[in-house]
Amino acid sequence: MITVYLNRRIDDDARRESLFRGDFHLYSGIGGANALADHAKDLIGQAFEGLDPERAQYEMDVDEFVRRVEPLKREFTNGDRTKALCQQFAVDFGVDPERTYFDIPRLRVIPADQFLTAGVSYNYKAHRDMWYGHPQQLVNYWTPVFDVVGDNVMSMYTDYFDRPVKNGSNQYDYDEWVAKHRTAAAGEKTTDTRPHPLPLEDFESRGEIRIAGQSGDVFMFSSNHLHASAPNTSDVTRFSYDLRTINLDDVRAGRGPRNVDSGATGTTLGDFLRVSDLAPLKAEEFEDALTHA
Ligand SMILES: [Fe+2]
Repeated sequence: MITVYLNRRIDDDARRESLFRGDFHLYSGIGGANALADHAKDLIGQAFEGLDPERAQYEMDVDEFVRRVEPLKREFTNGDRTKALCQQFAVDFGVDPERTYFDIPRLRVIPADQFLTAGVSYNYKAHRDMWYGHPQQLVNYWTPVFDVVGDNVMSMYTDYFDRPVKNGSNQYDYDEWVAKHRTAAAGEKTTDTRPHPLPLEDFESRGEIRIAGQSGDVFMFSSNHLHASAPNTSDVTRFSYDLRTINLDDVRAGRGPRNVDSGATGTTLGDFLRVSDLAPLKAEEFEDALTHA
C-alpha cells in the first residue's frame, strides 16, 4: 500500500523512511519552493521575451525554441541565485542542513504535441533515477512552474516500486555519461542518440497515477519509483523543476528502498552540495557504502 500525504508536518527522518516505503508527500505553500518557481518564471520570461511561455512553441520553429531553451536551462541549473534558493528550499523542508546534500536542480521544458521530445526537451521513458547512477537513498522534489494537468505531468507506475523491470542500466556508467553525453543535449533535436537506460520489456502498469499541482506545489517521492514523462497532450508547454537530496546518514547506513533492478555503475554523489554551505560531497568516502546489486 502506498499512502499519499498532504502537507504532513513530520520530521525529515520519519518522512524519508515513509518515502523509502514508497509513500508520496505533497506540499503547498512552502516559501523556498515558491521562490524557486518564481525565479524559474523570471528566467523563462526573459528567454521568451514577452511571449506567453506556455504557448511560445506555436510562435517559432524548433531551432528557435532550442536556441532559447538551452541557455535558459543552463542558467537555471548553474546560477548562483538558484543555489541560494535551493538552500532555502531545503531548510524550509526541515532537512538537517549539515547532513543533507542537494543536486543542482533541473528545469524541464516539455512542449505539447510532439513539437520536440529530444535533447533539451527529452521526454523521459520509464526509468528509476538509479538507472542513471543516482544513489538508492535519493529523494526527489518535483515542482510545476506553471499550473499543470494530468496531460502534461509525469506518469508514476506505483505498482513497480518494488517490482523489477528488465532494463539497460547495466550498460550505463555515470562517469562515461558526463564525459561524453551530458552536454550534447542541444544537438539532439529530433532524435536522442544518447544512451539512456531504457526498459527492455513491455510492461503493463495497473497503478499509473499522475499528480498535477499548481505553481510551486511540491511532489516528493523516492526516486526508486518507476516514472516517465507523460506524452504532453495538453496544448501548452510544461515547465517544471526538480530537485534531489540525499542524507549522508542514509548513504552510510545503506538505508533506502531495495534495489530491484538497477545495474548502473558510477555515482552522481560527487555532484551533490551541502545545504549549509554548498561544500561538495566527497563521493570517494562512500564507495564502500554504495550498493549496486
Ligand atoms: Fe527521473
